[in-house]
Amino acid sequence: MKNQPLKIILSKFDEKRFGIRTAHAANITQENLREVMDFCKANQVVFLVARCETNQLRAVHSMQREGFLLMDTLIRYSVEVDKIAEAPDIEMFPVLPVQAGEEDAVRAVALEVFRGFRSHYHADERLNPEKCDGIYASIACEACLNKEKTSIVHVCKIDGEIVGFDILNSPSLGVGEGVLKAIALSVQKQGVGHSFASPKKAWYQSQGALVAFGPTQITNIAAQKQLISQNYLPYDSIYTFHKWFD
Ligand SMILES: CC(C)(COP(=O)(O)OP(=O)(O)OC[C@H]1O[C@@H](n2cnc3c(N)ncnc32)[C@H](O)[C@@H]1OP(=O)(O)O)[C@@H](O)C(=O)NCCC(=O)NCCS
Repeated sequence: MKNQPLKIILSKFDEKRFGIRTAHAANITQENLREVMDFCKANQVVFLVARCETNQLRAVHSMQREGFLLMDTLIRYSVEVDKIAEAPDIEMFPVLPVQAGEEDAVRAVALEVFRGFRSHYHADERLNPEKCDGIYASIACEACLNKEKTSIVHVCKIDGEIVGFDILNSPSLGVGEGVLKAIALSVQKQGVGHSFASPKKAWYQSQGALVAFGPTQITNIAAQKQLISQNYLPYDSIYTFHKWFD
């Protein structure tokens, strides 16, 4: 697999939430790690979220020597869009694009589902857990309000109530990626998540996406089972480290 170029940015989103100057770096290798450290120094970064592919072991060892701590491991699944399996023979619930005014209902599902979630933020004992709980609710709400960035938020309703959502990124160069999905606790493990498969496939096809990615934590068995049942297969995996500079 070819290395992707280093991406490093200051995160206004995290800085606002935690009140700490934060940067996010992705695709770290042994060769570009110095550039990451220099960027953080030049920008007075206090908190760095650092990601690298799991095969970059020399970079991992260098980061460990510099005091980076492992917070989670992501596994990305991929599928050819035409091969996304429609839901199996179970009850389907209506799934539609989110409507204006439904963002608070989406936020409420996210707040409930992601409280104490196993995210890299929650794994860091230096971050306030309550502030971590709200991160995914903010992402979900923002996605409903600012669709140019995320492109589509599908919501599932039972008896007229929103019980789940699935946020998909705008496909670029024929490649789409899932951002965030959640099913309300009261209806989890009942197959509700499957109701999103057909609308997702149809939307990707309408946007010209040929391939779709689905990232999740390696510890998230439910999410992985659901991706596998839709014909996704493992593609790559990524470590998330945190580095504190203070
Ligand atoms: C992951 C999630 C979207 C799955 O939706 P769901 O409607 O509950 O899932 P389903 O009922 O369709 O179950 C999918 C599979 O996972 C299994 N599963 C569900 N919950 C599980 C759990 N807690 N532990 C282990 N397996 C689980 C089901 O048995 C099913 O497997 P099967 O097809 O072999 O029977 C939902 O559990 C959720 O919102 N989780 C919290 C948020 C999250 O993890 N989002 C994804 C990461 S962005």
